[in-house]
Amino acid sequence: MNKIVAKKILAQKIKLIEVFAPAVAHKALAGQFVILRVDDKGERIPLTLVDWDPSKGTITLILLEVGASTEKLGQFEVGDAVADICGPLGIPSEIKPYGLVCVVGGGVGTASALPIVKAMRQAGNRVVSIIAAKSVDMLILEDEMEKAADELFIATDDGTKGQECFACDMVKILLEKGYKFDVVYAIGPTIMMQTVAETTRPAGIKTIVSLNPIMVDGMGMCGACRVSVGGKTKFACVDGPEFDAHQVDFLELRKRQAAFLKEEKLAMLRLQEMGRRGHP
Ligand SMILES: Cc1cc2nc3c(=O)[nH]c(=O)nc-3n(C[C@H](O)[C@H](O)[C@H](O)COP(=O)(O)OP(=O)(O)OC[C@H]3O[C@@H](n4cnc5c(N)ncnc54)[C@H](O)[C@@H]3O)c2cc1C
Ligand code: FES
Repeated sequence: MNKIVAKKILAQKIKLIEVFAPAVAHKALAGQFVILRVDDKGERIPLTLVDWDPSKGTITLILLEVGASTEKLGQFEVGDAVADICGPLGIPSEIKPYGLVCVVGGGVGTASALPIVKAMRQAGNRVVSIIAAKSVDMLILEDEMEKAADELFIATDDGTKGQECFACDMVKILLEKGYKFDVVYAIGPTIMMQTVAETTRPAGIKTIVSLNPIMVDGMGMCGACRVSVGGKTKFACVDGPEFDAHQVDFLELRKRQAAFLKEEKLAMLRLQEMGRRGHP
């Protein structure tokens, strides 16, 4: 069992939790994730390590409530405990001196982008951060990004904050202004990562995305997280989750992400039904 020691609501349906998990906190690196089970009957859900504090033995996770497991976790309060946490998992981000680095975070993907921004800056890079959301009330970690990055640009779909555009348009605007990025990181909804990849492709800018296929074991054995990269089969949990964006088969990824929509809807209906009855 891993106890929740702090909780914050960042935006509608987006929550931050700090969880006691000393073994994970001691080994975590930017780009890695954990797989947790909310309760002992729960499914295994991957969540990115946003922050970690080895001295306190805690890790910070940020979740967007999209279905039964994340809704349940979102209802947990300080003092409640999740059944188990496995990690850190995945290959850490390749942090090295590149020069000018652009890190794009879309929606809850901004949570995964933050540790990369911090690590890239620590490695001596100049870091430009773009955070994007549908609207100002869905924008997260603005203050933290402002502090962590050298420059911050904000994009909202509806223009309620920053530039009224998508994340990929913001990248395009900066490229047209003359920013010469040595590497671009894009983390967020699959469509956002794909459009950023298409924006940087013509200029041949190295672009890395953090893929979010359905995962089960997180150990490279079940095959659930299979993705195609450069025509080769990769398992995102052990070969990734970060890959060369220009090599990823995004169409296949989107199809596989939607493979269990019927079951996910049923799980959500069951959870709502339980809530109405007040017991399982
Ligand atoms: C490496 C990685 C890191 C992630 N980091 C974060 C994060 O930091 N914050 C965050 O809010 N979300 C993150 N996700 C996505 C998160 O795991 C899913 O939103 C969650 O599992 C959904 O479960 P659910 O029961 O609430 O929703 P469901 O109704 O079961 O599913 C909703 C959608 O979430 C996706 N999904 C469902 N089950 C899984 C699963 N086992 N693995 C991956 N995706 C799934 C599917 O696309 C599905 O259509 C990450 C995913 C991966 C692969
Ligand atoms: S989650 Fe099972 S192989 Fe990656």
